[in-house]
Amino acid sequence: MTTREENDLLTRTGPGTPGGDFMRRYWQPVALSEELTDAPLPVKILSEELVLFRDGEGRPGLVGRLCPHRCADLSYGRLEHDGIRCLYHGWLFDRAGACLDQPAEPDGSAYKNEVKLTAYPCHEAAGVILAYMGPQPAPLAPNYHFLGAPPKNVFSTKVHHSCNYLQANEGNLDPAHLSFLHGLNVGRDGRKGVYLKMQEVMGKQTRPQISVERTRLGVRIYSVRDAGDDKSYLRLTNFVFPNLGFFAGDGGKSGPTSYSVHWHVPIDDETHWRYDFYYDAVDGVDLDRLKVKVGTELGPGYKPTRTRENRYLQDREEMKSGQTFSGMGNYFPSHDLFAVETPGPIHDRTREHLGASDVAIVATRRQMLNAIRGVQEGRDPPGVIRSDNENVFNDLLILAQMIDKGVDPRQHCASIVQTRDYHALKN
Ligand code: FES
Ligand SMILES: [Fe+2]
Repeated sequence: MTTREENDLLTRTGPGTPGGDFMRRYWQPVALSEELTDAPLPVKILSEELVLFRDGEGRPGLVGRLCPHRCADLSYGRLEHDGIRCLYHGWLFDRAGACLDQPAEPDGSAYKNEVKLTAYPCHEAAGVILAYMGPQPAPLAPNYHFLGAPPKNVFSTKVHHSCNYLQANEGNLDPAHLSFLHGLNVGRDGRKGVYLKMQEVMGKQTRPQISVERTRLGVRIYSVRDAGDDKSYLRLTNFVFPNLGFFAGDGGKSGPTSYSVHWHVPIDDETHWRYDFYYDAVDGVDLDRLKVKVGTELGPGYKPTRTRENRYLQDREEMKSGQTFSGMGNYFPSHDLFAVETPGPIHDRTREHLGASDVAIVATRRQMLNAIRGVQEGRDPPGVIRSDNENVFNDLLILAQMIDKGVDPRQHCASIVQTRDYHALKN
């Protein structure tokens, strides 16, 4: 059982909290590239109010929201070649937070050298801007395959969640709910073949065998369902520290060359952005179709159209007719919104009654608590990348496939990892 103290450790990520110190050891998305045009963008991440902007070279900078002079909001500032200039008295700051100009101070004054604005290093990849908000030296930005992909191979978007980041990430680690929450009257969406078979199996086999394995990056979650015909349906999903879920991609595509990622980034303790990545290194992603698919459930400002206020537009007729299990349409992320927001802004884990199907949740919480305590004792947590060798993710395997009954899923996955040349799969 998770205690109240553990729940606080896991869910509180503001400055100075143990969970916040832990989260700040990793690079995190702070905005989509498409959001950062020719104006500074106010952003809030890990309960810190910040401003994201591009300098005259197009390089992103992430700095404190309030000007160190008399604390006017820099997100209203003027963008110049060298940085951002405060509207109030014209102080100019570069991407590293150095004060370059104080035009109201005496000529020749060195006072600007004493003033420093909070600034965090940024890295842009796959349509997102990542930042590192922890102590120096900064680790390497992770080179996950999807982050190194060109635009034709990855689609990135985000959706606002009115809940703590952890409860949403725990939904990614929960293979059992696929048989219920996401249940569809398969075939109605027009898809056929393997995808249809997988959906059927998930609907019928409600008790997957779930097992977990610790990895250098987090937790591998195996779930196996009987698929009849001497076959088993294997799904291999991954928790990657500190807040990512990797799972089979759009339409059930999977493997090292095609998968989806949910990256849950705290805005504060009661809200977060889920950054979504659809990745396909071989066939490319169907951007037009994905934009339509995502767009049907996403309103202005990356806010979902189905919310707790409108009861997720649940349609009882849709349920009665058997069209969907949830009455909330065909779009899985909308179902997930219901599941992760309704426990409340910060899920009180002391109220839970965990079952055998929650084995991956239990394992992940335990690993996270160990990591948080390790950071408090001065250790790097798992998944922080400090060398080029570590920054190759050959071992990050995601699967959803039929395998012969009797085949050991771990051996099956291990043999794939050993035999595939992942470097060749990069674009
Ligand atoms: S408050 Fe920003 S320059 Fe004075
Ligand atoms: Fe889900």
